[in-house]
Amino acid sequence: MTGLINNNENHRASAHEIELTLERLLPRLESVWRGEQVDESVVHAFQIRLKRVWPRLFYLLHLLYGSRFDFFYHLEQILITAARSWAARSVSLRNLDHQRENQPDWFQSERMAGGALYVDLFSDNLSRLREQIPYFQTLGLSYLHLMPLFVVRPGDNDGGYAISNYRSIDPRLGTIDDLQQLSEELREAGISLVLDFVFNHTSDHHVWAEQAQAGVTEYEEFYYIFPDRREPDEYERTLREIFPTVRRGNFTWHDNMEKWVWTTFNSYQWDLNYRNPSVFRAMLEEMLFLANTGIDVLRLDAVAFIWKEMGTSCENLPQAHWLIQAFNALASIAAPSMLFKSEAIVHPDDVVRYISPEECQISYNPTLMALLWESLATRSVKLLKQSLGHRHHLPEGTSWVNYLRCHDDIGWTFDDADAAVLGINAYDHRKFLNEFYTGQFEGSFARGVPFQHNTETGDMRISGTLASLAGLEQAIDLGDEHLKEMAIRRIMLLNGVTLSIGGIPLIYLGEEWGQLNDYDFVKDPAKAGDTRWIHRPKMKWEYLAELDGHLESKDGSIRNRIFRSLQTMISLRKKMPALAGLEMQLIETGNEHVLGFVRQHDGSRVAILANFSESSQSIEGNHLRTFGMGRYFEDAITGETIGTSEAIELEPYQISWLQRV
Ligand code: GLC
Ligand code: GLC
Repeated sequence: MTGLINNNENHRASAHEIELTLERLLPRLESVWRGEQVDESVVHAFQIRLKRVWPRLFYLLHLLYGSRFDFFYHLEQILITAARSWAARSVSLRNLDHQRENQPDWFQSERMAGGALYVDLFSDNLSRLREQIPYFQTLGLSYLHLMPLFVVRPGDNDGGYAISNYRSIDPRLGTIDDLQQLSEELREAGISLVLDFVFNHTSDHHVWAEQAQAGVTEYEEFYYIFPDRREPDEYERTLREIFPTVRRGNFTWHDNMEKWVWTTFNSYQWDLNYRNPSVFRAMLEEMLFLANTGIDVLRLDAVAFIWKEMGTSCENLPQAHWLIQAFNALASIAAPSMLFKSEAIVHPDDVVRYISPEECQISYNPTLMALLWESLATRSVKLLKQSLGHRHHLPEGTSWVNYLRCHDDIGWTFDDADAAVLGINAYDHRKFLNEFYTGQFEGSFARGVPFQHNTETGDMRISGTLASLAGLEQAIDLGDEHLKEMAIRRIMLLNGVTLSIGGIPLIYLGEEWGQLNDYDFVKDPAKAGDTRWIHRPKMKWEYLAELDGHLESKDGSIRNRIFRSLQTMISLRKKMPALAGLEMQLIETGNEHVLGFVRQHDGSRVAILANFSESSQSIEGNHLRTFGMGRYFEDAITGETIGTSEAIELEPYQISWLQRV
């Protein structure tokens, strides 16, 4: 039955009605304030923010749930949740909220540099991780993403992405108190904490899923559960498969329930049903609980999939955006200093739709990532330039997170039309890239492995570490000094771009040492079926002893060189105000192997030249001079001075950060 009252299709609430609704709701929060005994000023701060975002919040929730007969009840509960959470927020976090309200561009600074890690693989547990804060400082990090560390299901848990309880830490890693303490110490060290909000699905061992399995209707409605194949078959007609080697299709048969469950990812990850406002509310409570542990950035996992609609791809639907915007509006009231980061590994047009101050302030940049690897394989920057030319720019108050590798696979998510402009057939090109990065293409330097090969469509993604994909593994196996040199240069070239192009650079830790693929993952039955474990190796602390000269080993000098070069580039970045913000202008270099761009901010400028080929390249100095860059530059990386009256020579895979002298 469609709603008779407040049907959102034929009733748009007026500004007056929206205000009236808030007036009616505010007194309902009184009992929260009294119960929590908060100061008048704390209540006041909440009310000011609530009033500011209320029209937007109301509009979004009304779009999503306005046709429900119990809409007003849910609205009230949502505000009570936000108020309770604000009342429970620590004084130090409230101070941070205040500070960031006055400095909203803090995350756009050149001083930002990120790292990501698995707590167990890096340091076993949270308390040992705390002891490693000096390590992050040595490398120059100001942002740390800890992979999911909550209670997971027994057995396979998708690297923590199958969460059974959002409020307790996996006991092998520590406790919520450990997390809170870590967050405080990180903040003192100038490092922001980033954690995941895995809100598209829970594990099949979450209490909600267990209740559903026990036949409790209220919780069956938390998920998409079907008695037979009728609806699943109808949905399947327009869905893609994300994990085709796990199971065909998007639904899993549950033996005990004798029902089908929607499982976009692994069969034990049950998609949540956000058509049900109780799910929104329940996840809001989890989100705000997390916020109060002291998170600076919340990484919104798998954003594309959170709303389903028959007859569509069930990805990137408008309702997915409304949901995130509603969460954002509530966070801006109850935890205003926390940012959202979008994980949308989808078509570039869809990636940017999640990015705005009212939705996700920052986002992974999967297109840049994929195209940097594409340029490395082809030795040509044509497609990269074509894409950057119209895709780098983002709305005011937002930023990219630029990365080369993460815990996931590489998918070739460039736009087919961008390729077509250059006469490149996207299907064939992806096939080439897959062959190149799995080392099957003649002359390839890469040692990746396939991920989720779909034999029906030919679709495939790539797993592998930065170093193995860039040729270091092959070079070491062949014992070839020249190839080693080329591989190291490729690694520094790619890092040199993500550190300078505009946005927060993010290093997947382990890559600072050029870690190679770890083929032993197959020995663990819970990991064997997922090749992404090949690039999730354990941190080897002996590398640090090597660096300090306490230990010697055969490849130690390569690792030291990669670490030191990266460390140097990060510290250079932090001293270059031109690298703040996003403004970036491509330079026509007249050489298809060389990417050139200018960064500027607050009157300071840097020109970057990056040679993607293994032979030396030259570009006419005039190309830079006409960019208003003057006649002499210093390369911040080598310290050399270069004049623009002659040709500028770049060594194989060289990247130069040129500042006027
Ligand atoms: C995200 C994670 C990935 C995980 C998936 C399901 O894409 O990055 O590791 O498999 O979501 O949670
Ligand atoms: C798909 C999804 C992305 C996920 C990845 C995991 O690309 O779009 O969200 O991280 O699969 O492999």
